[in-house]
Amino acid sequence: HNPEIDRLLQAYEWSAKFYHYLLKNTEHGKAAMDYLRSRKFSDKMIDQFQIGFAPDRWDTLLQFLERRNFDLAEMERGGLLSARSEGKGYIDRFRGRIIFPIANRAGKVVAFAGRILGEGQPKYINSPESKLFNKSRILYNLHQSKASIRKTRQIVLFEGYGDVISAWESGVHNGVATMGTSLTENHASMIKALADEVVIAYDGDRAGQAAAMKTLSMLEAVDLRVKVAVLPGGMDPDEFVSEYGGERFREQIIESAVSTVKFKLIYLKKNHILLEEDGKIAYVKEALQVIASLHSSTEREVYLKEIASELELSYDSLKQDCNLLRASMQ
Ligand code: GTP
Ligand code: MN
Ligand code: MN
Ligand code: MN
Ligand code: MN
Repeated sequence: HNPEIDRLLQAYEWSAKFYHYLLKNTEHGKAAMDYLRSRKFSDKMIDQFQIGFAPDRWDTLLQFLERRNFDLAEMERGGLLSARSEGKGYIDRFRGRIIFPIANRAGKVVAFAGRILGEGQPKYINSPESKLFNKSRILYNLHQSKASIRKTRQIVLFEGYGDVISAWESGVHNGVATMGTSLTENHASMIKALADEVVIAYDGDRAGQAAAMKTLSMLEAVDLRVKVAVLPGGMDPDEFVSEYGGERFREQIIESAVSTVKFKLIYLKKNHILLEEDGKIAYVKEALQVIASLHSSTEREVYLKEIASELELSYDSLKQDCNLLRASMQ
């Protein structure tokens, strides 16, 4: 047992409670509460995810920690405080931000993510990596979702904290998110140990879809079954739930997630103008690369027929090109 780790865990636990209290019960938290309400965060979710607020002052948490006799240098190493840029001493690391506590698998808070109120840069700041917190090994909400994951053997993977929370309120209780960074091989093997299937539910914007392409190949590389949820109009899951409600989110987004092949075809299609011959031919070439690598001839037939009817091409010529490509891939 490492006593510094124990002290830091204690500090995070108390700080999370303190920030949650400030959000809910003080004048400091009022604007943040209004902001969360405007984004349809319910009281129930605010409690369950222990969302908090760090006031826009230099020494709110500093004084809280000092009164409890924590070693401030230790708190700085743990990411709760920052060293002053000039002179000695410390200041609060999180100021004027909504606090999302990040818990480890055992449910102990090991870091914070802090979101600015409204617009501004950086949108989020996180605790730095510490003895407690390694962001390539942590999945947000795993401590609460693991029961549902164990039952369903499925994980839904989101980009953001708000997405996980909105999904939870919609009845999707097997959702997790990475800490803003892309999925690592560590994450992939953690997921493999917990589940058989992953639904990738990243944002519908370009960045999210490009990230989904990378994530799906990392997950397929460890032999997970993968599906991809497709969000309309560049929305993210949280925005979709706010706009259309949880039931439609479950049915039209999560339960309607498509195969990775289908997703790749949708993704590739976006880069081409199918009304022009050049565009159509270029898209078909890329699509055939995906389809030709499928082992099942039934699957190849299904997708080739879809493309044939969509682009008004003959199935026979697509199949012939596909077989040529397969021969060259041997
Ligand atoms: P909202 O705008 O509050 O709905 O957040 P979001 O989760 O939709 O944010 P976005 O889709 O822009 O980013 C997805 C995730 O990437 C966030 O939840 C964060 O984990 C991370 N992220 C986004 N912006 C930043 C940033 O400025 N700094 C860091 N460290 N992480 C970020
Ligand atoms: Mn995004
Ligand atoms: Mn988003
Ligand atoms: Mn956003
Ligand atoms: Mn969002």
